Amino acid sequence: MTKKILVTCALPYANGSIHLGHMLEHIQADIWVRYQRMKGNEIHFVCADDTHGTPIMLKAAQMNVSPEEMISAVNAEHRSDFSAFEISFDNYYTTHSPENEFFSTSIYKKLRERGYIKTRTISQLFDPEKQMFLPDRFVKGTCPKCKAEDQYGDNCEVCGATYSPSELIDPYSTVSGSKPEMKETEHYFFDLPAFEQPLKEWISSGAVPAEMANKLNEWFESGLKQWDISRDAPYFGFKIPDTDNKYFYVWLDAPIGYLGSFKNLCSRDSSINFDEYVSKDSPCEMYHFIGKDILYFHSLFWPAMLYGTDHRMPTRLNVHGYVTVNGAKMSKSKGTFIKASTYLKHFTPEALRYYYAAKMNGRTDDLDLNLEDFVAKVNSDLVNKLVNLASRTAVFITRCFNGKLAGGITEPKLFEQFINAAKTVDECYEKCDYARAIREIMGLADEANRYVDANAPWVLAKDPAQKEKLHEVCTNSLNMFRILTTYLKPVVPTLATGVEALLNTTLSLEKISEHLCGCEIREFKPLFKRIDLKTVQAMVNDSKEDLAKSAGSAKKPAPAAPAKKAAKDDDSEIAPQITIDDFAKVDLRVAKIVKAEHVEGAEKLISLELDIGTEVRHVFAGIKSAYRPEELVGRLTIMVANLAPRKMKFGVSEGMVCAAGPGGWEIFLLSPDSGAQPGMRVH
Ligand code: MSP
Ligand code: ZN
Repeated sequence: MTKKILVTCALPYANGSIHLGHMLEHIQADIWVRYQRMKGNEIHFVCADDTHGTPIMLKAAQMNVSPEEMISAVNAEHRSDFSAFEISFDNYYTTHSPENEFFSTSIYKKLRERGYIKTRTISQLFDPEKQMFLPDRFVKGTCPKCKAEDQYGDNCEVCGATYSPSELIDPYSTVSGSKPEMKETEHYFFDLPAFEQPLKEWISSGAVPAEMANKLNEWFESGLKQWDISRDAPYFGFKIPDTDNKYFYVWLDAPIGYLGSFKNLCSRDSSINFDEYVSKDSPCEMYHFIGKDILYFHSLFWPAMLYGTDHRMPTRLNVHGYVTVNGAKMSKSKGTFIKASTYLKHFTPEALRYYYAAKMNGRTDDLDLNLEDFVAKVNSDLVNKLVNLASRTAVFITRCFNGKLAGGITEPKLFEQFINAAKTVDECYEKCDYARAIREIMGLADEANRYVDANAPWVLAKDPAQKEKLHEVCTNSLNMFRILTTYLKPVVPTLATGVEALLNTTLSLEKISEHLCGCEIREFKPLFKRIDLKTVQAMVNDSKEDLAKSAGSAKKPAPAAPAKKAAKDDDSEIAPQITIDDFAKVDLRVAKIVKAEHVEGAEKLISLELDIGTEVRHVFAGIKSAYRPEELVGRLTIMVANLAPRKMKFGVSEGMVCAAGPGGWEIFLLSPDSGAQPGMRVH
């Protein structure tokens, strides 16, 4: 029986480019969708840009364009990136749409009618200059616990403390630099706790991967909280009905955007019945592919909103981990923060699709894109194992048999094995365990290559008496090749199209056990180009240039942050003058990093041992987002040697290393020219 399935990817924010992190999710979902289509299921695959909220509003202001203009330009860019990566969306839409406004409003009204919306007055930090309330991440100040400066409004990156923005010492608005005031405002809340029971039932139905169960239990144990769904003007979003200055918080209308995009598709394709997919007793299935960072929204708020308005809840959330590159977080300064469009300038989409697939096991572990391994794996599997099967045999069919395959297959046992793999391959695709599917398929490719090697068609071709045998061997090999490529079709659709042209047939699961015999094939043409490491280097360099360009544009005077009151973290303003005596108070020394280690439980810190000639100091440095410990050991840097020791959550820090840059990916450790010795004073 065919199934009816609605599939979504999380909606990318409309203020940035698609990068190889996003691509993991879209490739994972696309492979699943393509496989379901091959099985004959009716499947609709939708996505959209997530266009609302304060960051988008401020980014547009900074670029001196309207939010509408910005999101429509970004939408065009996102669409072109996804289509270049062969993501086969049936619709890629926007949350800034009439459909989404309609559903957001009507879902809200229904929840209100049923008593699930509460109002309450809260106090929030307010930027008096910009006349706007500030989300936590737009407030910075000194950590109330460890006194580290320039920490975000909700947590300290140095000591890990969490607090409310009102506890920050010397808070300032990162929008204007002014000192925020506490101001009261009425907010609207969604009564999440009322849905504890149905949510628990839904979760135990297997809708959320079992490995996430602990996380969910934690949330239930600490108690579900009322969810703040309103924001005050100015805000870019949908106005809340019956108010004049309140807007829906972006995370309310974002998941509803799944429905908006689907509805928009239905309005173009009258064969799809929208209600059949979303109503309470829907016989259809609904899957959301998401990253683990947005599980809270998708496992609590979203299903509760659906349940509370008589909609069906999702069949299942497919949760994935994060992409790392060469074992570390994607880093702009190292050129490993790679945009989809930058990648595409250097490689075919299918190389990445294949590599990701070969490493995706359907669980939530992070996935490492190791660039050397990427080159090796793609060449060894796709070129040496798969395509080689065809290139070594198709030539003889063309040259010796007028392009015609032999009348039958002569290795029934071998074929049985290839066809029987369909069951395992199916289970693997269904569970998104593509890694195992590919191990299975490549295992068979090894088998097929052994068969070709053992029968050496290039030797048979020299002996006229072996002509029939040559015909059989090549026909057998090409049929094995056909079966393997059919299995891989959802992963590498363009390669599969090339194979369909070569074999003059359609690769389908239905026909997989029908041998391709007695018919004509076309002349072999290269199906996949070998890739190389030099191209990786070029891509990494290009990614560094992307960074240089965007850094350049960020320096234009931005209307949202006037230079005179530059936010403290901007660092563009020179600090007040000091005398040479003031400077002499700071004892800067050349230090050699003799040991560098991760700090258990700390997100930002690396623990360093610094040799300053006379002694070894122990220092915690917040540089983990830009460096790996192993690359630090042995290098020289500059340290403040007379800084009073500071007690931190993880131990005492005896000084500070010097680095440039705003933080995050962009941290550049200082080092002296060669010849400098540990302990030398910096003047
Ligand atoms: N706009 C929200 C989602 C709303 S869904 C109703 C959002 N956008 S996002 O652009 O930040 O992320 C979109 C998806 O990409 C998320 O599922 C997120 O987990 C995923 N990824 C973003 N960076 C990623 C990596 N580095 N690695 C893997 N996935 C990543 O969240
Ligand atoms: Zn702190």
